[in-house]
Amino acid sequence: MTQVFINGATDAANVREHDSLDASIQELIRAAAEARNHAYCPYSNFAVGAAIRTSDGSIYTGCNIENGAYAASICAERTAAVKALSEGKRQFVACAVVAQQDNGFTTPCGVCRQFLAEFASNGRDIALYAAKPTNLPLRVLCTSVLQLLPNGFSFSSSK
Ligand code: THU
Repeated sequence: MTQVFINGATDAANVREHDSLDASIQELIRAAAEARNHAYCPYSNFAVGAAIRTSDGSIYTGCNIENGAYAASICAERTAAVKALSEGKRQFVACAVVAQQDNGFTTPCGVCRQFLAEFASNGRDIALYAAKPTNLPLRVLCTSVLQLLPNGFSFSSSK
């Protein structure tokens, strides 16, 4: 297992060559990269794209959309998620995140991890692929929402 630097933490992670991944995963990463082009991020200048695969095979994309009142901003992952949810899709199978970060990979923030975990298909897990838009040969961090959110809160287990 490769030792990789992820968002300031060193962690054991599964980093693979983009070309070795299934075509459906490559398609999801491509969709996230395209969505990133629509990012509205004049405050951070950090553009993020996300794409979610739902259990029926559909892809929903999103980008980060910031606001002059910073707290009103929304991340790419939740943009994609609310697009799927508002179309009646509640079973998330996989999520791709694309951003240009010099060290390591951009993975969802804590709020997005919690938000996504709620909609894991069949109550299981959501595969998570983090990639950069260019940097060839492209390498992809392959993990999952539950790996990124161990012991996360679940309302059903709180009762
Ligand atoms: N951001 C995302 O959209 N997704 C992530 O996974 C990390 C952070 C956004 C939020 C904000 O607009 C900008 O990136 C800088 O934090």
